[in-house]
Amino acid sequence: MIRIERLDAGAACRHQSALAEVLHDCVAGGASISFMWPFSREQAAHYWKSIVAAVREDRACLLGAFDDDRLGGTVQLWLDGPCNQRHRGDVRKLLVHRAMRRRGMARRLMQALEAEARSRQLSLLTLDTATGSDGERLYRAMDWQSVGVIPRYALWPDGRFCDTTVFYKELAVTAA
Ligand SMILES: CC(C)(COP(=O)(O)OP(=O)(O)OC[C@H]1O[C@@H](n2cnc3c(N)ncnc32)[C@H](O)[C@@H]1OP(=O)(O)O)[C@@H](O)C(=O)NCCC(=O)NCCS
Repeated sequence: MIRIERLDAGAACRHQSALAEVLHDCVAGGASISFMWPFSREQAAHYWKSIVAAVREDRACLLGAFDDDRLGGTVQLWLDGPCNQRHRGDVRKLLVHRAMRRRGMARRLMQALEAEARSRQLSLLTLDTATGSDGERLYRAMDWQSVGVIPRYALWPDGRFCDTTVFYKELAVTAA
């Protein structure tokens, strides 16, 4: 049974090694998510320390997906845009461990993230993802609008260039 939880800074600290394992597994699996290979578990743990700080300062909202008590997936909603973009959130690092894929974890995480965004009165979400990736398939399946492709925007972990597709989704928000 998949369960989605919002992780505050304390919970993010408690689950830091599982979060690091998910990130490490995704990079090991070849996902283009900011990091190059080789990528150690220590580097993964270091990355999550910076995210815990952002969550503590409410610059980002962190969600975790659990199967029973095992954290297998995560996503971030960033809220640190400039003061003329406070209606917009940026989605980052939707990650599911390879052992837990194709069971609806990412879909559930994105549904929860959208609910969180609506509760914060956000009316626009943006993200980018590797062109042709499972992430792109997921966002299209969840009715995100593609803006276009930026060629050679990033690298795959093995050093090859990676095109990136930019997406947005408008949210209907009701007045508070
Ligand atoms: C992208 C990712 C998060 C998907 O996680 P997941 O839990 O396996 O996805 P779900 O099971 O919720 O899939 C939801 C939908 O996305 C699409 N999808 C996801 N993976 C797919 C695949 N391998 N092939 C085809 N469609 C896929 C399907 O439409 C799927 O619905 P369906 O299973 O009913 O057909 C996961 O593959 C991952 O972590 N990849 C590496 C990191 C990454 O690239 N993240 C995204 C960009 S930041």
